[in-house]
Amino acid sequence: MNTHKRDPRLEIETLSDSLRTYQRAYYVDARPLVSDLEYDRLLDQLQTLEEEYPHLRFPDSPSQRVGSDLNSEFPDFVHTIPVLSLDKAYKSEEVSSWMAKTEAKVAQELSFVVEEKMDGVSIVLYYEKGLLVRAVTRGNGLVGNDVTANLKTIASIPLRIPEQEHVAVRGEVFLPKEEFLTLNKRMETPYANPRNLAAGTIRRIKSSEVAKVPLRIYVYEGFWQGEHTFSDHISILATLASYGFSLNPNIALFSKSREDSQKRLEKASLGGKALCYADLDAYVEEHTARRSALPYEIDGLVMKVNELSVREILGYTEHHPRWALAYKFESPQAQTVVENIEVQVGRTGRITPVARVAPVLVGGSTISNITLHNQDYIDMLELSIGDSVEISKRGDVIPAVERVIEKNEEGNKVWTLPKTCPSCSTALVVRGAHTFCPNPTCPDQVSSRLKFFVGKAQMDIDSFGPETITTLIDLGLLKDVSDIYTLDYERALSDAPGFGEKKISAIKAGVEKSKSQSFRRVLVSLGIGEIGKKAADLLVESGIISMDALLEIADRDDEETLTAIKQIGPKSARLLIDGLKDPSMRVRIERLRKAGLNFEEKKIDAPSLVQSFANQTWCVTGSFEHFNPRSLALEEIGRRGGRTTSSVTGKTTHLLAGSGSGSKLVQANKLGVKVVDEEAFLSLLEGEKPKKKSEDVQGEFSFQ
Ligand code: IVH
Repeated sequence: MNTHKRDPRLEIETLSDSLRTYQRAYYVDARPLVSDLEYDRLLDQLQTLEEEYPHLRFPDSPSQRVGSDLNSEFPDFVHTIPVLSLDKAYKSEEVSSWMAKTEAKVAQELSFVVEEKMDGVSIVLYYEKGLLVRAVTRGNGLVGNDVTANLKTIASIPLRIPEQEHVAVRGEVFLPKEEFLTLNKRMETPYANPRNLAAGTIRRIKSSEVAKVPLRIYVYEGFWQGEHTFSDHISILATLASYGFSLNPNIALFSKSREDSQKRLEKASLGGKALCYADLDAYVEEHTARRSALPYEIDGLVMKVNELSVREILGYTEHHPRWALAYKFESPQAQTVVENIEVQVGRTGRITPVARVAPVLVGGSTISNITLHNQDYIDMLELSIGDSVEISKRGDVIPAVERVIEKNEEGNKVWTLPKTCPSCSTALVVRGAHTFCPNPTCPDQVSSRLKFFVGKAQMDIDSFGPETITTLIDLGLLKDVSDIYTLDYERALSDAPGFGEKKISAIKAGVEKSKSQSFRRVLVSLGIGEIGKKAADLLVESGIISMDALLEIADRDDEETLTAIKQIGPKSARLLIDGLKDPSMRVRIERLRKAGLNFEEKKIDAPSLVQSFANQTWCVTGSFEHFNPRSLALEEIGRRGGRTTSSVTGKTTHLLAGSGSGSKLVQANKLGVKVVDEEAFLSLLEGEKPKKKSEDVQGEFSFQ
């Protein structure tokens, strides 16, 4: 018989309470209350008890922070709030002018909160009745991935908040710079920057692995469901802090006077700098300079209207709230040496010079190759091998050589493109600003075409990697993309080193699967001039839904039918026709047809509708009951053949006006644009019945 009676529930609760207190002290307040050893001992006790009494393992138990060894999946989750992005500015004057304009728009004195723009991974935390039920990545803003188990391991995310509320909290998961450097050193393939490492970690399939990475989060927005009486953003931030969330302490409030800002911050009981409008430029400048001294990466500042009632008036565009603006820092710059300049032959034969530079860190990622575009660009820079150069990441993404800082000492002259193709020795030809290899069977060109063809956005055959392509080209077996479907892979590769049975069957399976790719994708994969996804979509959506229809147009030299499609200009039309008339392209097309690829658009995602909005141009404004987010209304218009624009102009034929419509409604009335409210719009939509599948879709579209 037991000598002392145990109450496991009470024990678990007591242990959990202490652990929660210690976790918060350690991770949120950075003030540890107990030694690591003591903490681990308590956690161990809790885990043992939970194993013994699994029904007492609660979703907000501190043991959840440790993660599990089970593989988790990241199912899609449709956000219940629109997870919008931010409008951007690059100059501090743009920021002040945005502030002034915003004030003028609402004709009222405003205050603005300025926060750091964290360069991490955007996350939405959903709380229901106070319990963290879901953590979801931003995804495309509408649908993200459920990464709850992994995010629960981040100690600064409360698993339960003190109020039984339904709240969605937005924040940024990040890895401090120092932790990044330490961890990255141990990685087999190091990550380019802390953001990528954080993003990679969040998608690890074992949450126990995630728990080992010291990820952190700063939250910056809260969206409450139901009644709540916040009047400003700083009160929301203060409430989030009181709930146990970590906030970035570097915030500033700008209003008409410093005293006023101070009063407001005090009233909300929130820390932060109290400043006035006149301080803005200096603040931005100072913060930009301080950036590299911060322990984490930021890529700008975010300016937000503080007054929530005004936020409501200002509303949202499809992409961003009108009450916020991101000030992005100037592209980061660095200095390095051009060690060599090589040329690449693209799939169209275009020759691109690429600078190989001594690896250097710019804005958090390592740069070693930089495109130099064409001879004009090199001439403009007067660039030679061995020169020291300043490089930047334009728009923070694409690295570019900005200028030569110091010429090389070897006396190397300005670099010039070779006269012959480095791959096939054919004499190069100049067309406009670019230089081309005119030999369609050039090995490098063939290889680029193949890489493009199997690429993710085209036929998406991921088992067909660069190694497979090179091996098969070297064996002389792969001369054209169409060979992919006729090759006997067992015979071709069984003796090739590195190609085992498993790999060969993966290649075969990938090739087979690609046969079901849609006609649009096949069209793009052919690599005709500049015909990418956008053009393919336009063609198919305008009713040209088969290869034969397209070939007929090309054979008739019928530019007009193509240019009648909005957004297809004479230049693209010509390129498309010439591309399709090219004899080697014809051979390729016929061989692909024989292989059984889709030469007709079969599956149309949504049932095809009568094109009742054809020739109409709609603008959508305000908010709606049935179309939330508003993009749902835009989709309905598009599905019925209508065009949509983001502003009311002379070309606009209809304005769909929801509640809170402002300047667009005024503009529409001024221009005599037909204004339609939600109810009328719904009945316009309901007037339609889905078309029967057997009907000829092509006839419904108009080319005007
Ligand atoms: S507010 C509707 N505040 O920047 C609310 N975003 O480029 C819009 N970001 O997707 C976001 N720090 O992931 C906001 N202090 C901050 C931020 C921040 C970083 C990210 C966020 C957003 C992206 C937009």
